[in-house]
Amino acid sequence: MKNDDITKELRQLIQLDIDAIHAYNAAIKKIEEEAIRSQLTRFRDEHQQHITSLSAALREIGGTPPEFSPDFKGYIISGFTSLRSLTGTKGALKAMFSNEKLTNEKYSEAIGWDVQPFIKSIITQNLEDERRHLSYIEGTIETMR
Ligand SMILES: [Fe+2]
Ligand SMILES: [Fe+2]
Repeated sequence: MKNDDITKELRQLIQLDIDAIHAYNAAIKKIEEEAIRSQLTRFRDEHQQHITSLSAALREIGGTPPEFSPDFKGYIISGFTSLRSLTGTKGALKAMFSNEKLTNEKYSEAIGWDVQPFIKSIITQNLEDERRHLSYIEGTIETMR
């Protein structure tokens, strides 16, 4: 892959993780069960680590990472489900399930990119986290039926 294409794709992947953090923050507010809330908080922090590691890789190849804005103005990645109108733990988890399906899809795509090995290993590690996030959320929804 050309360097310009890699930087463009990495910026989008970072943006995806930024959107995920905003979605998690909204979900965490709607969840009353302490155990679920703390698990989602850990997942949110893992997305922060994804941003940190991908941003470092991007800088190393001459790119500029997108800025993280703490004031939420709406998701940039289309397909992210807003949690604004949803209530309750199950509603929040269902929205996060579809959001994490999207992160899993994008990271699965990214794993096939022809990029430097150090970038590939970051993507591999992040994808493992994303799979774990998705399966926890799926399993938790199952127990609430
Ligand atoms: Fe992530
Ligand atoms: Fe995730």
